[in-house]
Order: sequence, then structure tokens, then C-alpha cells
Amino acid sequence: MVIGVLGAGTMGAGIAQLAAQNGHKVILVDKQEVQLKKAKDQLALILLKLIDKHKITSEKANEIQSAITYSTELSAFSSCGIIIEAILEQLDVKHSAFEQLEKVVSKECILASNTSSLSIASIGGALQKADRVLGIHFFNPAPLMPLVEVIPAVQTNVSFLEQAVSLMKSWDKTVVVCKDTPGFIVNRVARPFYGEALRIYEEGIADFATIDWAMTEIGGFKMGPFTLMDYIGNDVNYAVTTSIFEAFYYDPRFKPSFTQKRHSEAGFFGRKSGRGYFDYSEGAIIPTPVKDYELGQQIVDRILAMLINEAYDAVFMQVATAEAVDLAMTKGVNYPKGLIQWSKEIGTKEILSRLEKLFADYGEDRYRPNPLLRKEVLH
Ligand SMILES: NC(=O)c1ccc[n+]([C@@H]2O[C@H](COP(=O)([O-])OP(=O)(O)OC[C@H]3O[C@@H](n4cnc5c(N)ncnc54)[C@H](O)[C@@H]3O)[C@@H](O)[C@H]2O)c1
Repeated sequence: MVIGVLGAGTMGAGIAQLAAQNGHKVILVDKQEVQLKKAKDQLALILLKLIDKHKITSEKANEIQSAITYSTELSAFSSCGIIIEAILEQLDVKHSAFEQLEKVVSKECILASNTSSLSIASIGGALQKADRVLGIHFFNPAPLMPLVEVIPAVQTNVSFLEQAVSLMKSWDKTVVVCKDTPGFIVNRVARPFYGEALRIYEEGIADFATIDWAMTEIGGFKMGPFTLMDYIGNDVNYAVTTSIFEAFYYDPRFKPSFTQKRHSEAGFFGRKSGRGYFDYSEGAIIPTPVKDYELGQQIVDRILAMLINEAYDAVFMQVATAEAVDLAMTKGVNYPKGLIQWSKEIGTKEILSRLEKLFADYGEDRYRPNPLLRKEVLH
């Protein structure tokens, strides 16, 4: 099958590489010639590194490179069986692209979006034949991250969904199918990792370095919340949080934080701007955490209880199965354990009592325990 990729930025370039590595002919289209050139040059560098590391032969590298055709014209997509769109995260821009795409492809061509936060149904709304629209959400970098969330919209025909799932499996991806709801699985369930860490900081319980130390050293996470937000970019992370908060009709569970807003407003985006919660300039003093294990454990217990509550909510609201939610968090964002499994190891009763205590202490709806978690405890 010929694979079309629209948008040759960070994600599009990665998806094109992945498809070519899996033996497909790929058409990569971007409206900017300069982006296509950048994608081509970057791929050449990546392939050289892979040859150096003996991961691929130079013949395979040549095959991958010659499998990709670069174009600025949508008409280049005419022979594709699927198009994966990875352009700007803006609904009007995606609508106009999907409208144009439909004019150049066959009726059987699947039209997929790599959107992180927009509704697939709304993207499909731009199509005449919307039963072939779906979400295929990759994680960055697409060739390396094992998880793919596949999202059927209310309009999607099941046969197109099955085709997309088997295509992703043939690329050795771990596939989770989930409902077309804000943030899908990963970007929804992960919100408290950032939000509760920010809240703990705002209450003056601990500083950034101490919270990060607790979550890595005691919690076993690969990266602390503030280091991770600095990697993602505070502007990007704040925008995702805000869009999820709005999409959930302002549910206080997803309320954005002033601290992150202020950092974003100040241009403290994180690594890319040289300063975020931490200072990345040369010679900057690295803050030392307060290595108080009792305090650290309290921080981990609180953030983890909130993450687990969110995982139960995703299962409760039928976004995905418990197995899919656990797979998504371990394969998409490298959590040390699946959250549902983790809750069983700690004891669901203990998690419920942590949440009930938070709820009683603060009286805020944000801490309400999920009904499915409550049900688990009763069983
Ligand atoms: N960056 C991530 O970590 C990540 C992860 C998962 C999903 N996503 C989603 O993937 C999509 C792309 O993100 P990105 O980070 O690769 O963006 P990016 O800014 O790196 O690349 C976007 C590319 O799209 C091109 N483009 C914009 N409008 C176009 C149009 N109308 N026609 C053709 N090309 C057009 C731009 O020239 C640019 O090359 C977004 O929907 C984003 O939410 C991003």
C-alpha cells in the first residue's frame, strides 16, 4: 500500500521514515519546500547513524531513502491507500486540508489525523465521505515510540478501523483503540502528573527539584514532572492542559495552573528557551532537592493516587479497556507500571482512602474518587 503523509514537520517526517522502513512507498507532502528539504536531510543523518550502529545496512538505508517521494502538491497522493495528516494543530487548517485531500484520493483511501487534542469527529465533519476518517496518534519520535492510539470517530466504518489497526500492527506498533474523547488515553490520564505536581508546589509543600526527586527516586518514574514539562515546553504543555480543561467543560480535575501560565508568559518554556522551571544556561547552579523520604513518599502517594483515579475514570467512561490504559501509559509515556495494575499492588482501598482524605481536606471536586475505583474496593 502506498502511504501518504501530509506535513513534513517533527511528526510527519518520523511517520514517513517509519512507513518507509516497513517497506512502503511513501509520499510526503508539505506546503513548504524548506520543510521537505529539512525532513530529507534529517532522514539522511538518522540513517547514517543507524548504519554506524550496525542497525541497518547501507543498502537498506538507500531503499528507505528512495522509497520516499517529496512533494508540495496534494495531487501526488492520488495512488495512496491511506493518508496520515500531521500538520498544524488547528481545526480550521485541518478542515481545509481534509476537504482538499478528499478531492485527490480514491473513495477507499483512509484519511487519518495525528492530532493530539482535536476531535476526530470534528475533523471528519469536513469530509463528504466521513466513514474513512480516523485518528492515528503517534508519539514522538514516531519511529521509536512503540505506542499508537487508534481512534474511530462516530462516523468511522469498522472495516477502515480494522485496516488501520492491522497496518499499525504490521509496523510492530503496540495499538490501543480508544474513544474519540479529549486527550484520548495518554494525554488525558497523564494530566495529574503535571497538574498535581504544580499544585503541590503552589501549596508550598515542596520545590520543583524536590518533587522531581521524589517522583524519580521514590516513584520510579524516568523523569520528574518539572523536568518533563521543561522538555515538552511549558507553552505546549499549558496549551494542551487548557484545551483539555475546556473540552471537559471546565471539570476542575483538569484545571490549568497559574505557575505554568506565568512561566509560559515569561518565556520560560523550558529547554528550548534555555530556562523553564530549571535554568539550562551554561554554568547554572543545579538546585538540590530536599531528600526527605517521608515528604517524598507523601508527594508520590498524592500524585500517584490522582493518576490512578484518572486511569479508572478513562475505563469507567469506556475510553478504553483497563488493559489498553495500562499499555498506553507504559508504552506511550514510559510509566514504570500500568496504573490499574499499580492500584492493585498498592491496594485499591488505600488509593481510595488517599483520595477521600484529599477530598475531605480540600472540599474540592478535583479530588472526588472515581465510582469504578469505589466499586473495585467494595468487590
Ligand atoms: N510534536 C509532538 O510531540 C506530537 C506528538 C503527537 C501528535 N502531534 C500532532 O502532530 C501534528 C503535527 O505536529 P508537529 O509537531 O509535527 O508539527 P510541526 O510544526 O513540526 O510540523 C507541521 C508541518 O505541517 C506543515 N503544514 C502546516 N499546514 C499545512 C498545510 N495546510 N498543508 C501542508 N503542510 C502544512 C508545516 O509546514 C510543517 O512542516 C499536530 O496535529 C500535533 O498535535 C505532535
